[in-house]
Amino acid sequence: MKGLVLAGGSGTRLRPLTYTGAKQLVPVANRPVLFYVMDNLVDAGITEIGVIISPETGAEIQRALGDGAQFGAKFHYILQDKPAGLAHAVATARPFLGDSDFAMYLGDNLIGMKIRDAVEEFRTAKDLAASVMLKEVPNPSSFGVAEVDANGHVTRLVEKPKEPKSNLALVGIYLFRPSIFDAIGKIKPSPRGELEITDAISKLIELGGKVRFNRLTSWWLDTGKKDDMLLANDTVLDDWLEGRNDGTIDAESKVSGRVQIGKGSRLVRSSVRGPAVIGENVTLTDARIGPFTSLGDGVTIERSGVEHCVIMEGSRVHDIARLEDSLLGKRVIVHPGTTRHGALALMVGDDCVIELSNK
Ligand code: G1P
Repeated sequence: MKGLVLAGGSGTRLRPLTYTGAKQLVPVANRPVLFYVMDNLVDAGITEIGVIISPETGAEIQRALGDGAQFGAKFHYILQDKPAGLAHAVATARPFLGDSDFAMYLGDNLIGMKIRDAVEEFRTAKDLAASVMLKEVPNPSSFGVAEVDANGHVTRLVEKPKEPKSNLALVGIYLFRPSIFDAIGKIKPSPRGELEITDAISKLIELGGKVRFNRLTSWWLDTGKKDDMLLANDTVLDDWLEGRNDGTIDAESKVSGRVQIGKGSRLVRSSVRGPAVIGENVTLTDARIGPFTSLGDGVTIERSGVEHCVIMEGSRVHDIARLEDSLLGKRVIVHPGTTRHGALALMVGDDCVIELSNK
């Protein structure tokens, strides 16, 4: 069985972060979402993996993932030259996929369980044409929505219906056989102008294919907006982080709970409460880092308190009493103003959100 990971798309929901980077590389607990995707496929024994990339972010994705050796896999990059939909991406990958069954995985989907059992079941149940993963959600209209019968089969799928017939959303992980190519060949673009994989699976059912579903019993994180990102960070720190120190902690600093500290990082008169992850070459001076915080490589925090934040590489915070519930991109600087009359002086890029305390 092969893997097909979709790592194209423009990530409009995650602006401004996605102006300067791919949405699949946004870090959760200091690791790109895409790395967790690869871990899950490799854990299921899938090591021949095609990666769909776009002209905009393809080079960046390739730089981050490499040839696959660091994951114990082999990656094959496949360029999708226009964002014409998930089913179009699958059709583009046909030369790579050949006659193989395959697991398709959307590179921005992060789930809290292994797909190994579902993959194993699909390998042996030869009567199945496809297998999908479903999760009950409060807002089904934002997803592909499934109608199912009592025997564990899907009867119909609709992409982002205005009036959903169930609350079962399609998680972005699908198991297919080569028969999906015939179904893709028989569908038309959706109202948003894309060839939808949801429509292709519906067509497969219409053509007599049996499509099974597994319920996702773990969490599923849509890393779409700031609060989703912070929640994803909380959950991954809580569930998966292992404490470890590869940096230096001076005698006046204190670390408690599960904290991971990378090479070259230094704590000077600072405290860190876990769960928290601190990348490489981070400098903390007279800093208080609270739980559920991720600091990327090269971050500097001085004379400040930071709690429940994601701060990406190269950013610097100094002389801020309390920074909470915040998501900072790369090379951001936060410090008190120097205007005499207490006015704010900002330099902020497009689509940023600034929330100021009203006290
Ligand atoms: C895509 C699929 C949708 C699925 C979702 C899961 O939506 O079209 O059926 O529920 O991924 O993440 P998109 O992210 O393109 O809006």
